[in-house]
Amino acid sequence: MTISNTATVLIDSNRVIAEISPLLFGGFIEHMGRCVYEGIYDPKSSLADETGLRTDVMAAIRDQKYTVLRYPGGNFLSGYNWLDGVGPKASRPRRRELAWQSIETNQFGTNEFMDFCKKVDIAPMMGVNMGTGTIQSAADLVEYCNAPRGTYWSDLRASHGYAAPHAVKYWCVGNEMDGPWQIGHLEAIDYARKALEAAKMMRWQDPGIKTVLCGSSNDRMATFPEWDRIALETTWDKMDYLSIHMYTTNHHDQDTPSYLASARRFEDFVDTMAATLRYAKAKTRSKHDVYLSWDEWQVWHPGQHEGKWAEAPHLAEVGYNLEDALVVAQWLNVFLRKADVLKVACVAQVVNIISWLQTTTDGLLKHTSYYPFKLMANMAHGVSLDVLTRAPLTTTKQYGDMPVLDVSASYDAALGTTGVFVVNRSLTETIETNITFESTAPGSVTEAWQLSGTEPTAMNSWEHPNAITAQAIAKPGIRDGVCTLRLPPLSFTALTLK
Ligand code: AHR
Repeated sequence: MTISNTATVLIDSNRVIAEISPLLFGGFIEHMGRCVYEGIYDPKSSLADETGLRTDVMAAIRDQKYTVLRYPGGNFLSGYNWLDGVGPKASRPRRRELAWQSIETNQFGTNEFMDFCKKVDIAPMMGVNMGTGTIQSAADLVEYCNAPRGTYWSDLRASHGYAAPHAVKYWCVGNEMDGPWQIGHLEAIDYARKALEAAKMMRWQDPGIKTVLCGSSNDRMATFPEWDRIALETTWDKMDYLSIHMYTTNHHDQDTPSYLASARRFEDFVDTMAATLRYAKAKTRSKHDVYLSWDEWQVWHPGQHEGKWAEAPHLAEVGYNLEDALVVAQWLNVFLRKADVLKVACVAQVVNIISWLQTTTDGLLKHTSYYPFKLMANMAHGVSLDVLTRAPLTTTKQYGDMPVLDVSASYDAALGTTGVFVVNRSLTETIETNITFESTAPGSVTEAWQLSGTEPTAMNSWEHPNAITAQAIAKPGIRDGVCTLRLPPLSFTALTLK
């Protein structure tokens, strides 16, 4: 129960957690359902450009300021032969895709993905198949993408119309290999040994790449965090990031107060993984560092997951409501608060599948959670700050008492701007919040946005696409170094101050 209605947020630009990695605002697209086909690539749409890419989706993606894009899966990756997706489209095979029981036409592949990344100005993050794939096929793909012309695989790329290397820096060495659902799932030590050998060969192909090791698919796996310890200890010096994944939903529990306190679960997951990283570094006596790549995260409500051998089936297309958007905002707050160890994050996924963007042949709907991502990707830069929040407590079944406010902040010394991001997770209470600046106080609020509503289940729909969107609010003044705001219940507020 909420016991009082005022809060203080203390911000000191000297209390730096770490630089905010721009790669925290990444996305993920998989050959699954209608993400790639009918989401990214849809030649039949009147909104497609001359290469079949959806211009409306590209505009939304630019608007959201994504920085990195993970591809091509996901579970799809573990049965994928990348050679199927390159070369003349007419001769690419049409295959049964086992992970999602769908038909894969292979009309979109590695080179189309690179073209897409260029058009939206996002760094590609490629995955290599550690399920049915070999360490050789992994190294060959690095050569195909990154080697200068003059060898077998790089000349093949050139013959496909891409003379210049794609220069892909980020490489995932498999996907969710801890999961029994994964094609070619392995025990931790077997995966680790294979990943080590793959990463060795991939790095010999291009020493400039950064490699991502498969960690736990979520915090509820029976093998968590032992999987991570074994995989890290075996591969430490050959890996740069440990991949972690998590999805959440309020669908099963129908417990909104706990759901709105999800930041606690996200933080606990990162803290355990950070401790595992520290342990592995000590155990291997290494000077090398490995960071976290949270390269699949999202709210995922139950839906259809089997493609029934259709092309681009409607899988995992669920709308998002206000409470989902507030959970997404907390996830992003956690990314900032854990910026010392978390360096990459990719929302799963960017369009149609488990996504806040949904397409029809000629339309695009933005669900509630589109907005917190857009606001934070645009407004949070520089370093993240260690904010002290004194807020009333609210009681939850899953996490006990939680502060009613969830806060993060950024500071950009070059621009002289501070970003403040606040979720009021109360269902009922407006919280009068004093943001107090302990070091140099900004002169004014230059941007103020808010997403709020009265019903946690309120959603956007094709009939009412703008029921819940981020609205510009009146910019609060700053008096004696204090900026005072009244934060409505069920709200997310983003401010820039200068
Ligand atoms: O993003 C959907 C699926 O969730 C991915 O294919 C898989 O990696 C995860 O289990």
